[in-house]
This record gives sequence, structure tokens and C-alpha cells, in this order.
Amino acid sequence: MLTTEKSIDIDWGTLPFGYYPTDFNVRCTFKDGKWQEPEVTDSEYIPVHMAATGLHYGQEAFEGLKAYRGADGKVRLFRWQENAKRMQTSAKGIMMAKVPEELFGEVVKKAVKLNAKYIPPHGTGATLYIRPLLFGSGPQVGVKPADEYMFVVFVTPVGPYFKEGFHPVAIEVVRDYDRAAPLGTGHIKVGGNYAASMQPADRAYKGGFASVLFLDSKEKKYIDEAGPANFYGIKDNTYITPQSQSILPSITNMSIEQIARDIGLSVERRPVLLEELGTFEETGACGTAAIISPIRKIVDHDTGKVYRYGDGAGPVSTKLYQQLRGIQEGLVEDIHGWTEVIDGI
Ligand code: PLP
Ligand code: COI
Repeated sequence: MLTTEKSIDIDWGTLPFGYYPTDFNVRCTFKDGKWQEPEVTDSEYIPVHMAATGLHYGQEAFEGLKAYRGADGKVRLFRWQENAKRMQTSAKGIMMAKVPEELFGEVVKKAVKLNAKYIPPHGTGATLYIRPLLFGSGPQVGVKPADEYMFVVFVTPVGPYFKEGFHPVAIEVVRDYDRAAPLGTGHIKVGGNYAASMQPADRAYKGGFASVLFLDSKEKKYIDEAGPANFYGIKDNTYITPQSQSILPSITNMSIEQIARDIGLSVERRPVLLEELGTFEETGACGTAAIISPIRKIVDHDTGKVYRYGDGAGPVSTKLYQQLRGIQEGLVEDIHGWTEVIDGI
């Protein structure tokens, strides 16, 4: 039986980036070569076959996007079509059934609407995080793709990924772990990449760092990613972000590059040498969960170098943050048509 009786008493301003149960989630099964109709459930559990490829062989991909409550009371999604496309690229990369863009949009919007009471009020810093998940649910024992897939979308209200919010964080360079290999799965959003990042991330947290800075896995000369976020540096009125085969093409980063151009910065997407850290005026990490997180300090334990960027957010990061958040919340004109208002909430 479906129930909406759950009462909520959330202190929106102090919400962590964590799982907070909501009322409903929406699911769809791919069976006999086609997607079945989406179903709404209030269960937080999924019955899974014990030989499902998603459990054994990591045939799993996910997405992350957010619903934003604007100052005008409207609820907006940001570039959800890009998340749909990326999930298709991830599905192709590990041989899963692709979720059609239209189905992706329908299920995402349904999940948000059904849980509208969990969309944090404007101005609290919190948002409704949307987590689409796709995995092989059919059984296999040989290493090969499943015949059945499950697509699930749940939502949960969250604060910023780094508890510091828009306050600069400290991160550390890691050389003894790689999150992904150049010809591996770093460019798609599959669970294995995140499993591979847990050991160094845990060490970083225990050492008082908000995240790690991964380097290219071949030479350890170039910057790859800042944990679950892309990296950028600012120098001479230029926004510089790494080009690499093993980083996730961030929709936030892609949008910030455009915003940077819009506000008169040059943009460079190219391999970024670790030693360039010493030349940047500002650095930051960006992603849906991280939003824009300015970095105040990057510590390289192996070389003893410490790169510092000031204890406050720099002027360029601040401007980029204001523009991005402004578009997402309907405060800045959305000249690129990135947002979609969800009707009826
Ligand atoms: N890099 C990694 C490894 C991520 O997990 C994410 C989050 O999705 C990002 C970057 C940022 O991507 P996006 O801006 O599309 O959320
Ligand atoms: C996101 O930014 O949406 C992410 O997926 C990062 C993460 C929590 C893994």
C-alpha cells in the first residue's frame, strides 16, 4: 500500500549530503527486450536476484542531478537531458540497456513531484538530490551482460557535498591510488570508479582533508579529478580545467565553462600539469553535489609542497558560483535554456 503519511521536520540549513528517506521512488524494468511501464512504490528496498550482474560484475551506473526551489517558488531541473545522455553513454560502456531520454525525464519528474514536500525551501542552501540508478538485474554467472535491467529514481534532500559549503576546503594529492585507468571506465559514471576511490578518500577525511586530488595514472604528472568532482584553476582571467580520458565529463563544469565565457574569461580545457598548481590564483572543485567548492590549500605529502589560495573564496570563483546558482534558482536569466520548470508543484 502506498502512503504519504510520513511527517517531516527537517532543519534544512544543517542538512548533510546524506540519505534522508522520502515517500516514493519510481522504477522501471527492461525485460524481453523492452522497457516496461514505470511503477511508483513507497518501498526503499529492491528485491534482486542473487546472480544479478549488477551485484557481481559491477554492471551498474548512476546519475546525480538536483531540483532547485527558486525565489519565485518555482521548482527547476538543471540540464537533465545531459544526465540522460550521460547515463546512455555509461550504459553503452558496460553493455547495459539504454534508458531512452524521454523515459529518463518522465521518471525523474515523477519522482520529484511525488516527493514535493521534501524540496528544500529557497535560500536554505539545501536542494533535492535526484539519484537515477541503472543496473543489471538479470542473472548471469559468466562475465557477460544481463538480459534484464532495472532503472530506479529516488530523491533525497541534501546540503552541499563538502560540509564547508561555499567555504574553501583543503585537499591532498594522491599518488598511491588511481580511481580510473585511461582506457578504463573513468569517463562514465559507473559504481566501480567510486569503489576504487574509497580508500584514498577515507584516508583524506581522517587526515582532515575534504577530498583527494587524483593524478593521471600513467605518469602522475597531470591533474585528473578532485574526488567526486572536476578540478579547475584560474589564472590571468582564464578558466583552466583538465582534459583527460579518465575524468567524468561534468555537466556542472561544462556549464561553468560557458558561464566563464559569458562573463569574459578565456577557457582552456587541456592537460594540466601538477606543477601548474603553483601558478593559479584560485582553484576549485565542481560538480552537482559539490556545486563550486573553492580550494584553499592543496597538500602534496610526497614532495612536501603546499599550494595555498587564500582562506576566502576568490573573486572569480564567487562570480561563477553566483551565476550558476542564480540560473539554477531563477535569479539570473537563463540565456542558454538550461533549466526546466516542473509544472504543478
Ligand atoms: N567527477 C566525478 C567523479 C563525479 O562523480 C561527478 C559527479 O557527478 C562529477 C565529476 C561532476 O559531474 P556533474 O557536474 O555532472 O555532476
Ligand atoms: C554528483 O555530483 O552528483 C555525484 O554523483 C557525486 C557523488 C556524490 C558521487
